[in-house]
Amino acid sequence: MSYDKFDFETRAVRSGQVRTAEGEHSEPIFPTSSYVFGSAAEAAARFSGDQPGNIYSRFTNPTVRTFEERLASLEGGDRCVATSSGMAAILATCAGLLQAGDHIVSSRSIFGTTTVLFSTYLARFGIETTFVSLENPADWEAAMRPATRLLFLETPSNPLTALADIQVLSALAHDNDALLVVDNCFCTPALQLPLALGADIVIHSATKYLDGQGRCIGGAVVGDAERVGKDVYGFLRTAGPSMSPFNAWVFLKGLETLALRMKAHSDSALQLAQWLEQQPAVARVYHPGLASHPQHALATRQQSGPGGIVSFDLKGGQRDAWSLIDATQVFSITANLGDAKSTITHPASTTHGRLTPEQRAEAGISDGLVRLAVGLESLTDLQQDLERGLAALRS
Ligand SMILES: Cc1ncc(COP(=O)(O)O)c(C=O)c1O
Repeated sequence: MSYDKFDFETRAVRSGQVRTAEGEHSEPIFPTSSYVFGSAAEAAARFSGDQPGNIYSRFTNPTVRTFEERLASLEGGDRCVATSSGMAAILATCAGLLQAGDHIVSSRSIFGTTTVLFSTYLARFGIETTFVSLENPADWEAAMRPATRLLFLETPSNPLTALADIQVLSALAHDNDALLVVDNCFCTPALQLPLALGADIVIHSATKYLDGQGRCIGGAVVGDAERVGKDVYGFLRTAGPSMSPFNAWVFLKGLETLALRMKAHSDSALQLAQWLEQQPAVARVYHPGLASHPQHALATRQQSGPGGIVSFDLKGGQRDAWSLIDATQVFSITANLGDAKSTITHPASTTHGRLTPEQRAEAGISDGLVRLAVGLESLTDLQQDLERGLAALRS
């Protein structure tokens, strides 16, 4: 049965499931590498594509397919291709859609490893990338070339929660015969639907909020039947960065609670951000839900919630940032995000530590910046933990 006409929360729980003859309530895991055919003729028909059905789990697995159909439904795409990681999703998109001589225009404020993929590895295959400022459409426009095939961004950005207007950049992409690709990892479809705003392809690191409990690595590409269903899928089938059936099952369980979790992450993050704004040791707080956020109006229009990331600058620089981080007891000192467990990070010495001080300054990453990925613990306990951190700066 199709749940396409049902609400988000229902599709998140129900879409894509096909019960076997056993009548299981939860989705089954199919840990099999290959499938048995009834005859040589049937095997030939499956391989030629004349007969639909499973062949080999590098590119056909029922548990993975259930995850793909559920996420495609939530993002509003025709097709989803699941991958072994978020980075594999970005690689499969570029390898499936681009060729030597093509040009990418990408936001500068993206996950560092994506920057390395574009500037080092894709460059080796003749695909050049120009990096521009996320928030400034004029920068994007100035970077366009006749060879530009793809525009790439994350919104909100990590760690400063800057936004891009997806509608404006999708119009720019389409006027120039290019595709807009949005990494929707921070918002997830529970808070933002890039395809409905004109994007062509959505990328996910399922590792983050889609899992929601920090258990598995995985990724996904969502879009139309031609580009994702044929071109990206064709690369996946050939090169094999596929999602394992066990991981697909974990992500299916994650999707069931996605809307509830994203609301809880957003609510707690906003309250902590508002409280942090009142603290004398804090110079500035970054969170799209704050009225003081320079793009608060865009966030309210484009997202149905502000998300779980809060960053803040401490007046006392790195010494204070490290002291605060070390004094917390509930927040985990780790770079991951999207987990039920809250995490705390010092971007300048970890996620952005490979940048030069000048590059960090240009990106707005100060030595006093602390990033929180607010989890699902009690808000009171999280606030008290940050109070403990701030008290350490006064002692
Ligand atoms: C926004 C974003 N995109 C992609 C990735 C890569 O995902 P993965 O670690 O699953 O390969 C990450 C990882 O942190 C990320 O934060």
